Amino acid sequence: MEASPRRQFLKFLTASPLLGWTAAGRLLAEESLDSIDLPDYLIESPADALDVFDFHNVAKHRLPPAHYGYLTTGTDGNETLSANRRAFEDIYLRPMRMVDTSDISLETALLGEQLKSPIALAPIGAQRAFHADAELATARAAKTQEHLQMLSNMASSSIEDVIAARGQPVWFQLYPTNHWPTTEMMLERAERAGARVVVLTVDVNSSSNRVLLGKYTRADGRDCSACHGTRSIDDFRRNYPMYEGSRFDFAEFLTPGMTWGFLDRIRGVTSMKIVVKGIVTNADAASAVEAGADAVYVSNHGGRAEASGRGAIECLPEVVEAVNGRVPVIIDSGFRRGTDIFKALAMGADAVCIGRAYIWGLAGFGQPGVEKVLAMLNAELSLVMSQMGARTIADIGLPHIGIRS
Ligand code: FNR
Ligand code: LAC
Repeated sequence: MEASPRRQFLKFLTASPLLGWTAAGRLLAEESLDSIDLPDYLIESPADALDVFDFHNVAKHRLPPAHYGYLTTGTDGNETLSANRRAFEDIYLRPMRMVDTSDISLETALLGEQLKSPIALAPIGAQRAFHADAELATARAAKTQEHLQMLSNMASSSIEDVIAARGQPVWFQLYPTNHWPTTEMMLERAERAGARVVVLTVDVNSSSNRVLLGKYTRADGRDCSACHGTRSIDDFRRNYPMYEGSRFDFAEFLTPGMTWGFLDRIRGVTSMKIVVKGIVTNADAASAVEAGADAVYVSNHGGRAEASGRGAIECLPEVVEAVNGRVPVIIDSGFRRGTDIFKALAMGADAVCIGRAYIWGLAGFGQPGVEKVLAMLNAELSLVMSQMGARTIADIGLPHIGIRS
């Protein structure tokens, strides 16, 4: 544990214009690289966090190796995972001076919902792997901070409990199974629980090669069966309450046969709006809109889908162009700072989701950790808006950024 005078010294330095020119400044700058080799410095409470990477450090320290590996993994050689962060470096900011930004507002609207902030919580499955309170802690934080929450159908908590904890409907993210009655059952249950939007994830229809997860898992000496059981289909149903009462088997779990006509099938059983998550090309964005998607969600699953090696933010311009204002565009994958979020909004995204960033907060401190992550990102976004001369979300646009050639 760090001595407190050193902590105070670091705090002093971060407030100092000398930051970046001192040894301590370099230490903090290294933390911003989102690498798994972060300096060994652990915050003791959410209030001590300077950026979301402080929570990453704590999460790595607290989680069992297999769970940390599950959270962190990309695919193959982590090509897409790295590209997600690297791609932000090619986009620079163009500050506009002398604009009155004394009254910054992050408010915006998305699919008929008024949002206090364009930052939303991406669907992350199995949150009990990160904290005992799982999605309920996330929901309570989303409630106090007033953020949109998306709930995975692979959640450790039921949608009914999560909506109760959130105090208002969440968006329901769906991995269909090849067993239609199971899919239909989940859609009907989500709508009955109050969800008004279904987020259809289309980027892991077959499978993905999560090498880093395997490496962490084999280094974890614990007996996993205490929690995971024998990994039978019945254990699966017990661990993931949205599958309760389903009759599918593992052979029907993946959906490599899914095509655009699947949206009609969803519409046949629900009136929830449909968001298509996992789009990275203009052709697919156009197909999604033609298939009746109410919003297009640019995502490479946080680098967990395939080794395209292309950062999500690099995919945004072609998707925005193809969508051409017909439906909202949402994005995630690699967002860690207010400046990242600002760049996506400038490039035409209507909302930005965070994934690992809030799970780091959850793993470290439960609800207060998620709250601090959200509060910090809102504060960072407000600050960069002020620096760029944008008072509202609608004021943020292409003149505020440039792309290095
Ligand atoms: C995910 N993601 C995900 N997506 C989805 O549609 N359903 C899910 O159940 C999950 N589960 C999940 C678990 C874990 C541990 C991670 C890290 C990610 C993907 C998620 O919604 C989002 O696309 C990414 O997390 C965004 O990238 P960042 O912010 O984590 O870099
Ligand atoms: C994952 C699945 C649950 O990324 O989406 O692990």
